[in-house]
Amino acid sequence: MYVLIVDDDERNRYLLRTQLSAAGMEVAEAAEGAQALACARERRPDVVVSDILMPGMDGFALCREWKADPALAQVPFCFYTANYTESGDRDLALTLGADLFLTKPMSQSDLVSALTEVVERVRREGHTRAPLDIPAEESFREHNVRLLHKMEQQLAELTAANERLHDMVVNTVLAIATLVEARDPYTAGHQERVALLAYTIAGVMDVPDDECDGIRLAGLVHDIGKIYVPLEILSRPSELTAPEFEIIKMHPTVAYNALRGIDFPWPLAEWVHQHHERLDGSGYPQGLRGNQVLAGARILVVADVVEAMTNHRPYKPAVGIDAALAEVREGAGRLYDPAVAEACLALFDQGFTLPAAPAHPGAASVYQR
Ligand SMILES: [Fe+2]
Repeated sequence: MYVLIVDDDERNRYLLRTQLSAAGMEVAEAAEGAQALACARERRPDVVVSDILMPGMDGFALCREWKADPALAQVPFCFYTANYTESGDRDLALTLGADLFLTKPMSQSDLVSALTEVVERVRREGHTRAPLDIPAEESFREHNVRLLHKMEQQLAELTAANERLHDMVVNTVLAIATLVEARDPYTAGHQERVALLAYTIAGVMDVPDDECDGIRLAGLVHDIGKIYVPLEILSRPSELTAPEFEIIKMHPTVAYNALRGIDFPWPLAEWVHQHHERLDGSGYPQGLRGNQVLAGARILVVADVVEAMTNHRPYKPAVGIDAALAEVREGAGRLYDPAVAEACLALFDQGFTLPAAPAHPGAASVYQR
């Protein structure tokens, strides 16, 4: 028996070819409808097994053309599909004159029996199934409805898969942040509060929603480079020495190196790298100036300064929100982006408050994810 397989997926064709060849069948392959017609007109197969969803001429269109060609109409036409499994799909296939409608996957023995039976039935009866006598316009309309429905389903599946992938990447990055926070209890909560403030400032500045999400994520991980800084430096209750401060100054670059390989939809690694830069070039680690500091990073800078000044660190006591806001006001235009400073000051003017830091660093925090 000579079988023509029509499927755009090479792996599906391979599987089918292997199953049918093992049963002693001779097999030819086509990747879509027009190719299948050319192949069948060159040498008529005993049966055709066709997928439905294919680029170019799909399976429904192929069946319509097949049944309209007197040279092929008496060759049984079998659909074999994994995607079009609803009753409406089967109804349309039968309307078009399909002799068999099979759904994937099938065992080799069931598939071989089904194909053998349909070929024998057609030989016995002397004819294949004819298309139903319905207006062509109606048939085309139903075809388009089935196609559109399938496209919508596939788009929904793709969107869901894309969202799962996005969530997976974000959650993986957040897991790293949690590990760093577990090591340094004083960082616990700091990243959360910076993220909240940066996200809110971005909202006030009418930054697009998607970019606000990126800025929030950058805030949540901006200090992960502190994993590089020895714990005795991070928790030293006295002023840091110059060499110790040089080590601390490396944390943005450590974070950048960890994040730059992840293909975020935002320049997140760069934002994190620049969260200690200042517009006049006095920041670190690159000493960037003015527009060299990215817009997203300028928001992180202000959020980081305000949070850091309002919360106690082992080596730097908290000075309170008023002093933090005075620093932002005085540094606007020189150290900090004036638009960001203005948005931040307006926010606190309107009553915005940062959540309190955990009472006992290291204890389970309300900010833990
Ligand atoms: Fe930092």
